[in-house]
Amino acid sequence: MSGVERARQDMMGVQTVPVVKVAIAGFGGVGRATADLLLSRRRRYREHYGLDLRLVAACGSRSGLADPAGLEPDRLDTLTPGLTGPDFVTASGANILIEAGPSDYRTGGPGLAYLRTTLAAGIHGIVVSKGALVHSGGALRDMARQSGAVLRMSGAAAAALPTIDLIRHSLLGGTVLRVEGILNATTNFLLDAMIARGISFDEALREAQAGGFAEADPRNDTEGWDTAAKLLIIANFGLGLDLTMADLAVSGVQDVSPDDIAAWRREGLVPKLVGSLLRENGEMHGAVGIRTYPPDDPFALVSGKNKAIRITTDAMGETVAIGAGTEPLATAAAALKDLEHILIARYARS
Ligand SMILES: NC(=O)c1ccc[n+]([C@@H]2O[C@H](COP(=O)([O-])OP(=O)(O)OC[C@H]3O[C@@H](n4cnc5c(N)ncnc54)[C@H](OP(=O)(O)O)[C@@H]3O)[C@@H](O)[C@H]2O)c1
Repeated sequence: MSGVERARQDMMGVQTVPVVKVAIAGFGGVGRATADLLLSRRRRYREHYGLDLRLVAACGSRSGLADPAGLEPDRLDTLTPGLTGPDFVTASGANILIEAGPSDYRTGGPGLAYLRTTLAAGIHGIVVSKGALVHSGGALRDMARQSGAVLRMSGAAAAALPTIDLIRHSLLGGTVLRVEGILNATTNFLLDAMIARGISFDEALREAQAGGFAEADPRNDTEGWDTAAKLLIIANFGLGLDLTMADLAVSGVQDVSPDDIAAWRREGLVPKLVGSLLRENGEMHGAVGIRTYPPDDPFALVSGKNKAIRITTDAMGETVAIGAGTEPLATAAAALKDLEHILIARYARS
């Protein structure tokens, strides 16, 4: 609606509902779950924020769909070849992009091109994939600052488990002295299975793969890279640091031997793959590796596919959050939590 049209309607006493347009790039498990959840929550956005939320575009690697009037749930399966890419998203008129493509730490993945183009155009970004944030997080943060766009990434930083939000909202004002996180559900399941049932790493991995929660190539999880990526994103976007992967000492769970398991069981210790940040002499140092905990430590109780974070600050002591949800719904919900924060900050009626 044009400004003149809106003014005419206002003079006639007709209430107009501001429209906020959302696009989704990366239309796999998470992208589709996010679209479904967003469309099912349209009434909530109207009632809580006085806004008409429209999903105006969605795309995968080769095809997509768009409608400035807003896509309906029954149209999400009819993708047209060629409707994809950063220019497709900007042309859709979206105010907010939810990026849920593949994570590639080496190149930044397709998300990097989407975010560069859309942030430069002032389109707010909600990032679910980790590649662009790991590869070029600082540059993207600067682009967002320059254009005035909001950049949020709960989905990329352990999703349903609050991490960045906990630091930036709940613990605001204090100095973070230490962060410890069980950030990867696959490795937590593997260690849990090995310690609780005494099975080998290979057996536990086969079980996880059969259950569909370990990849056919599990090295991103088992060698600690997924934990490192999430830790880096928490460090850089939660604590405002500028760490790179090269700053982290990373080891995984792939070399855990039956002897290690036997020793930990004998000593009553519970092993976890942990990403940690520690403030020493005013500087934060990061690492990923196995740590062991006594059975009464909250981290020892984080079982199966759960994740956890423990944050120690100078003034608020120690805070622990433990959680997980069913995927991909939980990650979709984390992206839409970011969406609501953007609505509150930039669009909602006061
Ligand atoms: N699954 C989870 O529970 C979870 C949790 C937290 C974070 N994540 C992150 O969320 C992201 C998505 O996960 P997922 O499980 O939804 O993966 P997925 O099912 O493999 O979907 C990835 C999507 O990205 C699309 N894509 C690839 N290149 C693209 C491009 N150039 N432009 C637009 N789209 C492109 C793919 O399109 P095609 O279908 O055309 O190939 C596919 O639709 C990943 O980065 C993952 O690390 C996932």
